Amino acid sequence: MSGANPGLSYDDAPPFAAPLRYFLTAPLFGIAAGLLLLADGSALSSRWSPGALGAVHLVATGLMLQVMLGALMQILPVVAGASLLSPLRTARVNHALIASGSIGLSWGLWRAQPIATLTGATLLTLGLAVFLLAAARALYRAPATRGGSDTPRDLRLALVGLAIAAALGILLATALARGLALPIDLPTLVNLHAGWAWMGWGALLVAATSWVVVPMFQITPPYPQRLTRAWAPTVLVLLLLWSIATTVARDVADVPLAVMLCALAATFGAMTLRLQARSRRSTPDASFLAFRLAMAAVICGALAVPLSLFADADALPLLAGVLILHGGFVGAISAMLYKIVPFLAWLHLTQAGIKAPNMKKLSPDVLVRRQLRVHAFALATLLTAVFVQPLSYLAGAAVTTEFAWLFLNLARIVLAWRRAGGQWSAGHNPASKKYV
Ligand code: HEM
Repeated sequence: MSGANPGLSYDDAPPFAAPLRYFLTAPLFGIAAGLLLLADGSALSSRWSPGALGAVHLVATGLMLQVMLGALMQILPVVAGASLLSPLRTARVNHALIASGSIGLSWGLWRAQPIATLTGATLLTLGLAVFLLAAARALYRAPATRGGSDTPRDLRLALVGLAIAAALGILLATALARGLALPIDLPTLVNLHAGWAWMGWGALLVAATSWVVVPMFQITPPYPQRLTRAWAPTVLVLLLLWSIATTVARDVADVPLAVMLCALAATFGAMTLRLQARSRRSTPDASFLAFRLAMAAVICGALAVPLSLFADADALPLLAGVLILHGGFVGAISAMLYKIVPFLAWLHLTQAGIKAPNMKKLSPDVLVRRQLRVHAFALATLLTAVFVQPLSYLAGAAVTTEFAWLFLNLARIVLAWRRAGGQWSAGHNPASKKYV
């Protein structure tokens, strides 16, 4: 147990290589999404264009899902006391399935190749099954609550959201590949899938993690307990009601419920900005600023979604997608990676009894700041390209550069860890022998 962060148990942290394999390969999928935009000038013409669907899944399953599974590998034991059995072996199998599945699905959706779509979806299903079973077993054996935090509960809810989003995605992929007749029309099923993937999985996991890491790394006051206690369960209940309304009571209750869900997303963004404004940090570092930009994008995205429901303009759903996926999730994930990876490098060196360089030495802020400026530029060009399509090539170049730079910055931290004496097989005490 660490005095500074009660309820967090770093003794249960998995070997560095377990989460790291996800964190290092995720930016490669971001590079692929940028290259897709460079290769396909019509990708940003409509939310339904094959290029948009391919790029969405390179980012959603190739980057977002990977980073979030890697982070869960770390957070479940440390925050929720849920240690995964053989974390390294689970990570190896799961990572290979998720990465290859993301390639297959994104390629299949982009090139309209049903076999690739179905193969990708099947590999993703197997990968998610491996992870969800391992996580469920660990959570089942974990102590009910730890230190009064809502994070362990919300991690469980996010995993439920992931299972539902993935099930809808697999049904979609099978329907598209096999020409299956569905009980509801395709666009509605896609909206359900996207809603559960973004709110039921992405937003719940970012919120559950933020309850701990925002006060911890950004030195803000804690989130109000009234919010952390009610936010995630309310999101889940509203998502269930919205799903029912969307399928059986369309044009009656679905739009008001969708607006309520967007209001909840905006509330999380606004509360985080408010806490950041009260941070005791003397000067905001690059990660702090990136998280702030991400929260601003979440609020704008939460406004663009209802607008796209009322106004019949092709650009609005795309605008909402770019704000939420690239502005919100990629921004928040990049900001968190720049805190989590150097922290883990420092933690594993310290646990191995090595005098570790401090986090600023492991990840110099000037390098992070430059990369995050490219991220902000990429976001601006993507948003403009939604309205001025020829700019999608510039957006593709900016996105490619952004993720190549993110990869280099993360790889640089790992090299610094190695130079400081980090060993892949290092344990931190006799207990480490339990990990294989
Ligand atoms: C098991 C994994 C997944 C599978 C098999 C899958 C499959 C699909 C399929 C087949 C479509 C519809 C494509 C079409 O309309 O032609 C789709 C749409 C979509 N998926 Fe997934 N998906 C998965 C995971 C995810 C995740 C994790 C996210 C986000 C976090 C996501 C976000 C989206 C979005 C936003 C759309 C709508 C795109 C648009 O309308 O432009 N998917 N997915």
